[in-house]
Amino acid sequence: MDSRQLTLLVHVDCIMDILPSSCRRPKCRLKSFVVICLALGVLGTCLVLTAYQIDIDVISSKRAQVGAIFGETWTAISSRATPSEREEEQQGQHSSNTGQSWQINKTALLHLRRHLNPLQTARSFVLSQDISTKKRRVPFVFSNKKSLYMKDGMYHSLPKVSPFSGRSLGVCSLVGNGGILTGSKCGEQIDSSDFVIRFNMAPVCQPYLDDIGRRTDLVTTSRDRMKSKFNSLNSRAGREKFVNHLHDQYGQDTYILSAPFTVRGNIGSLLGIPEVLTSHNSSAVALFINPSHVEKMLHIWRELGLDLSKGETNFSSGFYYASVALELCDQIHMYGFWPFREDREGRPVHYHYYKSLDLGGLNNRWHAMDKEYEKLLELHDHGVLQLISGNCR
Ligand SMILES: *[C@@H]1O[C@H](CO)[C@@H](O)[C@H](O)[C@H]1NC(C)=O
Ligand SMILES: *[C@@H]1O[C@H](CO)[C@@H](O)[C@H](O)[C@H]1NC(C)=O
Ligand SMILES: *[C@@H]1O[C@H](CO)[C@@H](O)[C@H](O)[C@H]1NC(C)=O
Repeated sequence: MDSRQLTLLVHVDCIMDILPSSCRRPKCRLKSFVVICLALGVLGTCLVLTAYQIDIDVISSKRAQVGAIFGETWTAISSRATPSEREEEQQGQHSSNTGQSWQINKTALLHLRRHLNPLQTARSFVLSQDISTKKRRVPFVFSNKKSLYMKDGMYHSLPKVSPFSGRSLGVCSLVGNGGILTGSKCGEQIDSSDFVIRFNMAPVCQPYLDDIGRRTDLVTTSRDRMKSKFNSLNSRAGREKFVNHLHDQYGQDTYILSAPFTVRGNIGSLLGIPEVLTSHNSSAVALFINPSHVEKMLHIWRELGLDLSKGETNFSSGFYYASVALELCDQIHMYGFWPFREDREGRPVHYHYYKSLDLGGLNNRWHAMDKEYEKLLELHDHGVLQLISGNCR
């Protein structure tokens, strides 16, 4: 295969990302409509289109509502300048060209870390043989009383000890998939960090590289993503596409993290990852989130006054990994996290930098986005981590 062909392939792969990537409730309902319509055999298409239109309308109006409420919160929060910003203004200095001035406050970071210490995140946030030896039975976070017994094959595919034990990752960048990254030119700044975390098998290819960077040390994936993009690893083509995506877009030795043990339905396509990597001689390293760690993390945030799991809502993976990074990294910079439909200047913002049609954001029923974002802003204000939502140059 010559290099021109290869570029074309990578491009096609990126174009595929324009398709919606998940089957949340509205789309599942759409599916049942399809079945009913086909059964009726008449006017099926019309019904489908009507149903789809209704879903979209409901979602947009809900999102507008939540957006309006949270918009006010945002204005209140953003008008509250931090002490360091006020000082700078007095001294007539310009803040950085990101439109935000930010300095790490090691005292505040250490203080929060002390609260998170009991979690032993570095040692235990991924499943490893040393923490699972006695308890091969893994519980599900959101299905009480259900658990899975790890058979030999799975157990031996786990690392002996967590690869994050006893090491610091240095300066970390967490790169969310928000459309706020578009045009930000943050790529270079992101690539200059020591460890880059990306989410949900995000495309890392042209034309996005200037904005998002190239480097990827860890990437997460989800059941929805595995299904829509890689046929849940059920076909040879899906498995090959998966391994090629890892290698072409992230390079060698990337950690690929997933959370099979949230609800039972998540399991299939994710538990198959280690086997697929081995059979393709891949150097990527598959890791699974330890469900007990997720549960303890939710508990600790609740103690700190942030209740993120009510009914079906839980952490967004962005917030979970930010919490993990608080222990693993010396400094945390977060890009592409911006749950609003407009940027600071009022320009419209896509939900994803790769222009997915996925509807979500603030009205995503799984996540308490407003609470999470308010917390992240507070941590930013206190110098614990930096949220970057402007242009880098
Ligand atoms: C850093 O954080 C500590 C603890 O939250 C606080 O007391 C201190 O004033 C902060 N320092 C700066 C320079 O903001
Ligand atoms: C993996 O490596 C083995 C031994 O080097 C080789 O025989 C096999 O064909 C490789 N498999 C793939 C999918 O590249
Ligand atoms: C939160 O729960 C939903 C469904 O219950 C699940 O799909 C998602 O993966 C969970 N997120 C995390 C970070 O565990």
